[in-house]
Amino acid sequence: MSEWVIITNKGFSSDDWMSRSVIEPANILSSNIGEEQLKKCQLKLGNDFQVETLKSFLPYLNAISIDFPSAKDGRGFSHARRLRQLGYLGVLRASGHVMVDHYRHATQSGFNQIAIPPKLAKRMPEPYWQQQIDNFTPSYQEKLQPGSTTSYSSKNNILIKEAKKIQNLNLTNTGFVGVVVTKVIHWTDWLFSFRVARPKNFRFQSGEFVMIGLPKSDGKPLLRAYSIASPSWDDELEFYSIIIPNGPLTSQLQHISIGDNLILNPKATGTLVLDSLLSGKRLFMFASGTGIAPFVSLIRDPEIYEKFEQIILFHTCRGVKDLNYGKSIVETISKDSLIGEYADRVFYYPTVTRETFHTKGRITELLKTGQIFQDLQLTPINPDTDRAMICGSLALNKDIKAFLVTSGLKEGVRNHPAEFVQEKAFVGLNPIGLGQSF
Ligand code: A2P
Repeated sequence: MSEWVIITNKGFSSDDWMSRSVIEPANILSSNIGEEQLKKCQLKLGNDFQVETLKSFLPYLNAISIDFPSAKDGRGFSHARRLRQLGYLGVLRASGHVMVDHYRHATQSGFNQIAIPPKLAKRMPEPYWQQQIDNFTPSYQEKLQPGSTTSYSSKNNILIKEAKKIQNLNLTNTGFVGVVVTKVIHWTDWLFSFRVARPKNFRFQSGEFVMIGLPKSDGKPLLRAYSIASPSWDDELEFYSIIIPNGPLTSQLQHISIGDNLILNPKATGTLVLDSLLSGKRLFMFASGTGIAPFVSLIRDPEIYEKFEQIILFHTCRGVKDLNYGKSIVETISKDSLIGEYADRVFYYPTVTRETFHTKGRITELLKTGQIFQDLQLTPINPDTDRAMICGSLALNKDIKAFLVTSGLKEGVRNHPAEFVQEKAFVGLNPIGLGQSF
């Protein structure tokens, strides 16, 4: 009998890998295992293994398990995502101390199966898992497949509306997909956030951006770059936008409501990813306006807490109300089952420049005077231990960069990690900040 209880999207099941012989990376890398044999075995990976070294073997493997030695060690999620990015198409199993709260994150990272010891299954029986499985919103596109029998009662209206609108959007051969809006919140008269259902198989790294928008009157897509504000494990995608009164996109986008269709180019990219930084102890994030979006993605991803001991998030806005979106997300961290335990490692420092507030002034000024470090009781920036990310207006990016360079940090890019990174994709596109369009 298998020592594991297997969980898939159908609930508990038996282990169908029993007949597969177990191999470890060293077996593949050092000996000559033939393609046929690779197809029939299961590869067991520790969670500290460099998955890149297996790239050339991935097309032949059908079954890979990644070890989760403790519930607090989430490195396996990053390995899973990396394997999928490298093109692994077979079954991926998370084995060990995976908690029921991690179901969503595991699935979004690319796992198809979770294997837990019977003792853990006793503490977390099938109904607990089933609840997670049921709550995990499947992709709307999948639900619309002909012959789909799954009921979707509470969101049925959205589904029908989406079906119609997707047909109206002619996206054939464009590479773009239609995504349905699931939530809209207006934070002020000029700032709003919205969520859309995540397309099936769409993967991204927390901190990246995509192109999203609406069809123009001639039917052609009008897309702008928006950072994804939700973390990589979320089953929806969240965005944060300013409204430019005469801007072709945002003047229309501000009117969207639940069930509407948007157009998404499902290719995520960007520099504000953890892979662009060398390892360090503290990560400083500098944002102005809607530039906070990539950072609220990153701070909701457990990976950041594996890589850094402290996260310090600075957000400068003109008015107090402009802070509400970021503040509300920072406040949810302590209640989040996935990252709640790390909440005391996040330092949030909002500042306002054009209204009365307890921390008033431009972030650049507060950095120069050392006020920030005094208030947070932190030591000044040190290139040996500190890393930074910047996302804001052209002027803010330039000034923060100058401060970091003076402090001894060097700029990195995705393929060349260093001590700080800035998102340039938006800078210069518009003078106001990220995720904003004309
Ligand atoms: P300020 O009010 O002094 O211009 P915006 O809405 O124009 O993108 O600005 C968002 C926030 O970023 C504002 O509080 C603004 O301050 C601040 N800001 C703009 N440029 C800089 C800069 N170079 N350094 C620091 N803060 C900046």
